[in-house]
Amino acid sequence: MNAAQYFQRNFMVNDLGHLVIGGCDVVELAKTYGTPLYILDEQLIRANCRQYADTLAELYPDFEVIYASKAFLTKALCGLLHQEGLGLDVVSGGELYTALEAGFPPERIYFHGNNKSHEELTLALRHQVGHIMVDNLMELETLIQLAKETGTRPRVIFRLTPGVEAHTHAYDQTGQLDSKFGMDIQQGTALQAVKIALGCPQLQLEGFHAHIGSQIFEVAPYEATIEILGEFMAMVREKTGFLASTLDLGGGLGIKYNKNEMPMPIPEVMKRIAQKVRATMGALNYPLPRLILEPGRSIIGDAGTTLYTIGTIKEIPGIRKYVAVDGGMADNPRVALYQAVYEAVIANKMNAQLSETVTIAGKCCETGDILIRDLPVAPPEPGDLLAVLATGAYNYSMASNYNRLPRPAVVLVASGRAELIVARETYAQLVQNDLIPERLKIAAGTIAR
Ligand code: LLP
Repeated sequence: MNAAQYFQRNFMVNDLGHLVIGGCDVVELAKTYGTPLYILDEQLIRANCRQYADTLAELYPDFEVIYASKAFLTKALCGLLHQEGLGLDVVSGGELYTALEAGFPPERIYFHGNNKSHEELTLALRHQVGHIMVDNLMELETLIQLAKETGTRPRVIFRLTPGVEAHTHAYDQTGQLDSKFGMDIQQGTALQAVKIALGCPQLQLEGFHAHIGSQIFEVAPYEATIEILGEFMAMVREKTGFLASTLDLGGGLGIKYNKNEMPMPIPEVMKRIAQKVRATMGALNYPLPRLILEPGRSIIGDAGTTLYTIGTIKEIPGIRKYVAVDGGMADNPRVALYQAVYEAVIANKMNAQLSETVTIAGKCCETGDILIRDLPVAPPEPGDLLAVLATGAYNYSMASNYNRLPRPAVVLVASGRAELIVARETYAQLVQNDLIPERLKIAAGTIAR
């Protein structure tokens, strides 16, 4: 059985038996750009964006898809997303700065975060960022103060915790009452915040937001959230007369990392969500709000592949064979953090039989730096290229310099053309922020005591 048969994926493979992504032979990409290398398939990113936008355009009168930058953000991606008509969800001054530097229209930026600093909020207000997603009461007070100081009148959306538990990794759950994010509905915090905002001419309250988690495979938790938020909106209308014009359901759609995961197609989920919003609002006799979705992973995740070079191979007879690659937890911390299960292929041996089962080890000095356990592969040799699939989301954005490994380059591929969108970090860049006090400078030729 070869890789395509075993993993049941439609790989593009050329006459040389090499993996091809976006019309580019990845062996050539490795020669040109080195490894580890993040490869992004432009057409797939665009297709994912369109799956959201095209489906919603058919089903719902007023909507906006805003990409969750935390999944992966660079200036080039901002340009691509803008072309596709998406907005941007940012959660830090750094993400905001990246978007502004790329020339992304500030009015289409939404600023999230549970602990935005005064500096970050002021940056957002000064640039007239479209919406501030207010996370908690303390932030609300700060924002009112800063709006007064800067003479601005921000549009705000409140992040709420609906009390819904999605079935996903505990670190990826955010909708439950006991969460560091958002204002609770049950204990009255959300209503209190609404009353404060309505009494304050500095703020334009537009509506409500909930993000229940990430890598979710079911629609039911979204449907439950819509009901809870709908009931909350009706209650607010009754108590204050306020009509929300925006309902933001966050992101969270799961993607396929491995054979055992079977996400629902995006259009299918959008259809059910649109239906549920219509039904809920209809039953409450509430005007249909503008619907916002904030996908990250499902836009960029399956469009990414990480290419590594195989180095050391070590067999412990009767136990296991370790195949080490030139990256690991520094460029993909998701395995160590969330026990994520990835699949990979030897990209220069795509037609070969998967005759061995090996464990892919990273090069960091940690026992836990294992990328994939028990992976069926073609016979591996040093110098082969290993392509780990579906690494587009939360890999580059969560990469570190652990062990002082430089962060890999990112290349965007489409129609046989490859363009570097992030240069490989250099050793010089690794030390560029290091400062040496005079008394610790090492003079040439000196010997330690
Ligand atoms: N909106 C909000 C408010 C969020 O907090 C998130 C993700 C998203 C949207 C996008 O969710 P997505 O569509 O990508 O699932 N590092 C973890 C994922 C953390 C997600 C945090 N919030 C991982 O690698 O699995």
